[in-house]
Amino acid sequence: MKLWGGRFTKETNQLVHNFNESLSFDQKFYRQDIRGSIAHVKMLAKQGILSEKDRDDIIRGLEGILEDLESGKLTISTDSGYEDIHSFVEGTLTERIGEAGKRLHTGRSRNDQVALDMKLYIRDEIDELDGLVEGLLLELLEVMEKNTETYMPGFTHLQKAQPITLAHHVGAYFEMFSRDRSRLSDIRRRMNYCPLGSGALAGTTYPLDREYTASLLDFAGPTLNSMDSVADRDYLIELLAALSTISMHLSRFCEEIIIWNTNEYRFVELDDSYSTGSSIMPQKKNPDIAELIRGKCGRVYGALVALLTTMKGLPLAYNKDMQEDKELTFDAVDTVKGCLSLFTGMIASMSFRKDVMEASARHGFTNATDAADYLVNKGVPFRDAHGIVGQLVLLCIEKGIALDDLPLEEYRRISPVFDQDVYEAISMKTCVDKRQTLGAPGPEAMKKVIAVYRERLMAQRED
Ligand code: ARG
Repeated sequence: MKLWGGRFTKETNQLVHNFNESLSFDQKFYRQDIRGSIAHVKMLAKQGILSEKDRDDIIRGLEGILEDLESGKLTISTDSGYEDIHSFVEGTLTERIGEAGKRLHTGRSRNDQVALDMKLYIRDEIDELDGLVEGLLLELLEVMEKNTETYMPGFTHLQKAQPITLAHHVGAYFEMFSRDRSRLSDIRRRMNYCPLGSGALAGTTYPLDREYTASLLDFAGPTLNSMDSVADRDYLIELLAALSTISMHLSRFCEEIIIWNTNEYRFVELDDSYSTGSSIMPQKKNPDIAELIRGKCGRVYGALVALLTTMKGLPLAYNKDMQEDKELTFDAVDTVKGCLSLFTGMIASMSFRKDVMEASARHGFTNATDAADYLVNKGVPFRDAHGIVGQLVLLCIEKGIALDDLPLEEYRRISPVFDQDVYEAISMKTCVDKRQTLGAPGPEAMKKVIAVYRERLMAQRED
């Protein structure tokens, strides 16, 4: 059934219908479409544009449709001939309640209707995404709390650099995902204005109360330009950019987990339930989930670039090109939601090999800077200390040992300033403990930061 048959004398070509229809994907927001229609008729009746009886009949009809869709009694089929979810709901309503159903669309266009539905849907999705990021942050915080004294190498250029702790490393991701969360809440706040009542593009001649509709639908207020209201997809572009950034952060972390999980590193062991095997190589236990999350980044970026490109040449106001926003956004949102849950589960079930991490830090000369600082504390100029420790490192590489294992005589042969206390000074524990500036890995500094994170998470929960 079409909402616009009057002007036409021929049936739509079947291929045209198939190409044009959006019911196959916009059925995803049938709840939001019905919710928007209920608010619309409440407003129409309040303004005397619709009788109270028609309002009640329409609301009852819409609630019945919603109930039947939820229970499965009514199904949405693309064979029904409806082109989109708006036609489907209005058509089904009229089939069910007759004349009154035909009054539902008074003072409304599908252009402002679809703008509303998408905003309502996305607002709910942002709330879900926010919950998933929060869940991940809580999980990371737990890993951090347990590992303020788990020493590991910190890297630059993927070369061992200075000792840090696992809490500190994970804390870097805690920061990234916290910013992701605040990006989501910025977007929600900026997009939270109701486009309904903007009509096709130029508002309507009916005396609508747009403030009232906006408040029924929990918006901060109505939008202020009817052309922009039906043509704006900025908030979707912002969302896709935020989702791309979340994907990028997940992908970086996954890359590290994949490296940490190699036979060469063995810093972590993925749980069996989050790994897969090989059909030919019996010894394999592969990090497929981390790889897939890393891989899915591509389609999320793709959605962002696709929508930016779709929008770039569009004259005001509504154009059918904008129907393309749906599948792109739905796919990106669903993909990132999946990645966030899987990633959180993978982290929660993964085990960290603390002994391997610490040994790796020791054998990578991550305490070389501290050995130089030791000499500086005994009066040697830093540039000389740097050279002395460089020679020591070379000697250790030849012998295949760590600085910690080099006998004192060998130290003394290169510089007599060294004493027995050097071992204590370059132990992983000392190296990390001494880094107590705010934001550094020293356990005391770290514990303070963790307490701030916890408090922040709790405060956000109360908001
Ligand atoms: N399916 C359309 C979309 O997603 C709904 C709006 C249709 N409006 C129109 N004038 N054809 O954009």
